[in-house]
Amino acid sequence: CIDIAKLPKETGLFTYDSGFTATASCRSAITYIDGDNGVLMYRGYPIEQLAEHSSFLEVAYLLMNGELPGKDDFATFEHEVTHHTMMHEAFRTFLFGFRHDAHPMAMLVGMLGSMASFYHNTLDLEDAEQRRMAAIRLIAKVPTIAAACHRYSIGWPSRYPKNNLEYVTRFLHMMKEVPSEPLELNPVAAKALDLLFILHADHEQNASTSTVRLVGSTGANPYACVAAGVAALWGPAHGGANEAVLKMLEEIGRPDNVQSAVDKAKDKNSGFRLMGFGHRVYKNFDPRAKIIREMCHKVLNELGVNDPLLEVAMKLEEAALKDDYFVQRKLYPNVDFYSGIIYKALGIPTEMFTVMFAIARTAGWVAHWLEQQNDPEAKIGRPRQIYTGYDARDYASIDKR
Ligand code: ACO
Repeated sequence: CIDIAKLPKETGLFTYDSGFTATASCRSAITYIDGDNGVLMYRGYPIEQLAEHSSFLEVAYLLMNGELPGKDDFATFEHEVTHHTMMHEAFRTFLFGFRHDAHPMAMLVGMLGSMASFYHNTLDLEDAEQRRMAAIRLIAKVPTIAAACHRYSIGWPSRYPKNNLEYVTRFLHMMKEVPSEPLELNPVAAKALDLLFILHADHEQNASTSTVRLVGSTGANPYACVAAGVAALWGPAHGGANEAVLKMLEEIGRPDNVQSAVDKAKDKNSGFRLMGFGHRVYKNFDPRAKIIREMCHKVLNELGVNDPLLEVAMKLEEAALKDDYFVQRKLYPNVDFYSGIIYKALGIPTEMFTVMFAIARTAGWVAHWLEQQNDPEAKIGRPRQIYTGYDARDYASIDKR
């Protein structure tokens, strides 16, 4: 390991903060989190109030613009988003290059990256109005693209956005395979999805948002920035946790197996963790989990869902909440524990769970990208490292190695 004392003086103060747990990378006025007290606010509004009174699209406006919209502003915003929901036919053909069984998150990364190639001529990053339009296009098109990715993966043609529907119901209409019993018209399903989208819309400098900002700091195309964010979200330690929760529940299989799963998660040598439990920032409770837990129970009751995996989930929640290991470490169910269960109850396929998260988080990503582009102090992101390799050594020709 390099001796820090030997570093040249001009290096200045050099901190090592693996995982950036204590380093702020930017100033932001969008989202406030107090992890110790379980507080989350978007632009100063407590998440509990937004969850109760607002809608996802209004929250997207708030995140982007800093204030809640008046009636006329909201009508204009809704109109703009609705106007941009269509995918250009030529852009839609990009889909056909994917293998039929590609993961929808892989397709989403690819399709959003492709948007950078599709809209590069109409984007001048110096122009605030064009930056705003790029943000609106992303909020509008991500659900259309996400639904098309899903339908492509099951061999169904994509469905055009029905623009007389609202944001969430329009997405459900595009995604579901069979229009006969339209789940999209079930008010409990639509409300649950809208609520999940509000709760997932932003979460300050999480891995995917930091990624969007890091890529954005280089002046890259916003669609490429958001494609990078989607890639970061995919991992099971981040947005992929909701999919991992369902896989874990399937592995546990039966309520009788719950206790042995809890015991296995406590054994450090097992390499097994309870997915959907614990959080990097919330060390007491995740305020989003409190809200969504209530909705989760409502969805299960009102939709009359009878799925043995959901019984496993409820048993697991109960067992972990009274186990000393989890209580002492303050490992509570996080928002993704419940979001996976709700998606399952709504009949959304498991591999689409993280895609659902990406649709919601797009609102936060574009808000952060816009804020960064407007920030005169913003610099290119360039973390440093602690070098742990060899000291200088001489090259040896191949016959001497
Ligand atoms: N199951 C069992 N033990 C756990 C779990 C878990 N899910 N999470 C943490 N622990 C234990 C650790 O082994 C450690 O124990 P120790 O103190 O005896 O060594 C202690 O709790 C602290 O864990 P850390 O890994 O240091 O906590 P960190 O803040 O770094 O990690 C994380 C947070 C990544 C979320 C972790 O709790 C985890 O892996 N959870 C499961 C994955 C998950 O649900 N991710 C979704 C996050 S929410 C989101 O992205 C929207």
